[in-house]
Amino acid sequence: WKKMNMLFTVGVSILLTFSLSCVDGLTCLSCKGVADINDCLSSEATCQNSNEECYLDKTILPSLQAVFSAGCRSKQVCDLFAAASAGKRETSRTKRTTVACAECCTTSSNNSTGIPCNGYLCKQKPKTDITTCGVCDKVADPTLCSVIQDCPPNEVCTSELIFANNQLVHRLGCERKDVCDVTLKGYKDAHPGQYTGPKRKRVDGEIVICSSCCDTRTCNMADCKSLINIQPCYNKTLCG
Ligand SMILES: *[C@@H]1O[C@H](CO)[C@@H](O)[C@H](O)[C@H]1NC(C)=O
Ligand SMILES: *[C@@H]1O[C@H](CO)[C@@H](O)[C@H](O)[C@H]1NC(C)=O
Ligand SMILES: *[C@@H]1O[C@H](CO)[C@@H](O)[C@H](O)[C@H]1NC(C)=O
Repeated sequence: WKKMNMLFTVGVSILLTFSLSCVDGLTCLSCKGVADINDCLSSEATCQNSNEECYLDKTILPSLQAVFSAGCRSKQVCDLFAAASAGKRETSRTKRTTVACAECCTTSSNNSTGIPCNGYLCKQKPKTDITTCGVCDKVADPTLCSVIQDCPPNEVCTSELIFANNQLVHRLGCERKDVCDVTLKGYKDAHPGQYTGPKRKRVDGEIVICSSCCDTRTCNMADCKSLINIQPCYNKTLCG
C-alpha cells in the first residue's frame, strides 16, 4: 500500500506539474528545416491547447545535412517518439529522411536566457551572446508586439513609453548598452525610487516618458515602468 500511495502521489504531482505548466500557454521555439538551432531563435509559437508540448526534431536529409524543426506537438505524438527511441534505435527508412532525434519538453523558458525549453533538446546549446528582442514602433500594448529580431552585438532590448501625437505609445527595439547605462544613471539621479523616467524630448517633438533596457530574450515585451526598476547596469563607471 505504501508503494501504491507513493506511485499515486508521484502520479498526481506529475499531473499537477503538467497542468500548471500549461495554464498560460506553453511558449516554444518554432521553425522548419533550419540548418542551425540559432536560426530558430527568432520565432516562437504559443501552444494552442494543454495537450501540446514543445518539440525539437533533428532530421538527416538524403544529402546527409542535419536540419532542425521545432514547435508545438501533441503529447501523444511526443510519447510515441519517446517510446520509439527508448526501444530499438530504429529510424524510419521508408521516408527519404532519417529522424536522428525527436524530443519534447514542457518546462518554462530558461530563467537566465529566456529561451524556450525546446532550444535545449537534442543536446543543443543555443547561442546566448546575441539578444533577441521585440521590435515594434508605436504600439499600444508592448505585450502584443509580434515582431522579434536579433540585436547587433553589444545591444540589448529596450522598451520605451513615448508621448506622440497626443497619445501614449510604446516603442520596442534594440539599444546600445552604453546608452542604456547613461539613461539608467539619469533615471537614478532624477527620480530616486520613483517609476518615472527621463522626460527626454526628441528631435521629432516626441517626448520619451520612460526608457528602459533589459537583456533576456524578448524581455522588452513589457511595460517600461516595470522594467526600469530591474534594469541591469553594464558599466559601473557609467551607472554606478
Ligand atoms: C539555461 O541557460 C544557461 C545559460 O546559457 C545554461 O547554462 C543552462 O544550462 C540552461 N538551463 C536549462 C535548464 O536549459
Ligand atoms: C525558472 O524559475 C521558476 C521559479 O523559480 C522555476 O519553477 C522553473 O523551474 C525555472 N525554470 C527553469 C527552466 O530553470
Ligand atoms: C565603461 O565606461 C567608461 C566611460 O565611458 C569607459 O572608459 C570604459 O572603457 C567602460 N568600461 C568597459 C568595460 O566597457
